Amino acid sequence: MKKRIVDYLAGQPEKDIVVKGWVRTKRGNKNVAFIALNDGSTINNIQVVCDVANFSEQTLKQVTTGACLSVTGDLVPSQGSGQAVEVQAKEIEILGVADPETYPLQKKGHSMEFLREIAHLRPRTNTFGAVLRIRHAMAFAIHKFFNDKGFVYLHTPLVTASDCEGAGEMFQVTTLDLDNLPRNEAGQIDYSEDFFGRHTSLTVSGQLEGELGATALGNIYTFGPTFRAENSNTPRHLAEFWMIEPEMAFYDVNDLMDLEEEFIKYLVQYALDNCQDDLAFLNKMIDSELIDRLKSVVSTDFVRLTYTEGVDILMKSGQKFEFPVSWGVDLQSEHERYLVEKHFRKPVILTDYPKDIKAFYMKQNDDGKTVRGTDVLFPKIGEIIGGSERESSLEKLNRRIEELNMDTRNLWWYIDTRKYGTCPHSGFGLGFERLLLFVTGMSNIRDVIPFPRTPKTAEF
Ligand code: 4AD
Ligand code: MG
Repeated sequence: MKKRIVDYLAGQPEKDIVVKGWVRTKRGNKNVAFIALNDGSTINNIQVVCDVANFSEQTLKQVTTGACLSVTGDLVPSQGSGQAVEVQAKEIEILGVADPETYPLQKKGHSMEFLREIAHLRPRTNTFGAVLRIRHAMAFAIHKFFNDKGFVYLHTPLVTASDCEGAGEMFQVTTLDLDNLPRNEAGQIDYSEDFFGRHTSLTVSGQLEGELGATALGNIYTFGPTFRAENSNTPRHLAEFWMIEPEMAFYDVNDLMDLEEEFIKYLVQYALDNCQDDLAFLNKMIDSELIDRLKSVVSTDFVRLTYTEGVDILMKSGQKFEFPVSWGVDLQSEHERYLVEKHFRKPVILTDYPKDIKAFYMKQNDDGKTVRGTDVLFPKIGEIIGGSERESSLEKLNRRIEELNMDTRNLWWYIDTRKYGTCPHSGFGLGFERLLLFVTGMSNIRDVIPFPRTPKTAEF
């Protein structure tokens, strides 16, 4: 395989190498030019040293920020500090110029807002390079974690006829002519004429199909895009985000919490072990407490307490919240962060939520009021995981579906898992971008996914 800059920087001096990449900066004087070249393989640039006398004025003029070069030269021990080796250039081929008048990434320190407007070019910045490499490393680690444990990666559909979370926040999928909709005698839209012969949407979660997998294969996980048409313009919500959803037969809620905690700690430790340069960069430029925070999470036991206890703490806190707290309300990010950042100063797993604020599939407790749901709450983020033990009783599940007036016609296959060989089982969903917010220290979820989808934005 061709060597890249990351390999040369870690390697020994060598004659006649070729490095290709994009110019980050050029500086120097009339005798010598120093070019910082980056090819995306590492946050670190390789320094290319050119004796000005050996190159045409025309060539050096085209070596501007953003230009793409192929450099032939010798890899030699560096004269300067800051790098062990550098390239003494013999030939420079300009593969692609970047007009300094129009190339938008000229100076350092562009705002995140500005970079979102040039999402097609922002991967060329140090920050986004680091974030995207960490994103890759985390995706790999997720597969490794589950593969090592014998979980089966189950591919669940993106187009679906069911609303797993029951929140009605789905993007409709249709090929009907919106200007000329077919209607039945009652005047309603006739979806039997639609592509799938029924009303369909993009999935909000692969869980329901995941449960079909778990009740056959034992332990499965999904890892794919999910879609929510919620109009939440917050730094923690995307309309298209990636979710990891493991589902395990014979796990009760305690087994579930153990796995949630083990999983996140594994991923954070993996980042600490394998993404050192990128984390050091982000720690320096974005969030000076990042690495300390990552280390503290892997070495601490998560607090486990019930929703009721959590609400009690919040009500007694004397804290003025924007949204007042009382038993029964859905907790807001400000409440979750108070528990995690101010009260306990460590991650918290809340359990036994009121059934009315959770989805239909959660296992009902004997008190008739709460369900075995678990939310994992993290510093800076709030909810990072939502999960539960599932209701395994056919009778109780059916009653809940009825209470909520849900359409059972679309769920008959799901209900069959409780009818035939039902079993205790549990699962959770980790928002991949929420994890990345935590691991990278970035503060807006739009900046941990290459091409964010949010209300009114789908340009790139
Ligand atoms: O809590 P949620 O809605 O749970 C489920 O979807 C379950 N079906 C998961 C399961 O048990 N298999 O979402 C799970 C996680 C949240 O904790 C959060 O991290 C993330 O998905 N999430 C979002 N991330 C980004 N943008 C959004 N709009 C998100 N909504 C949820
Ligand atoms: Mg949730």
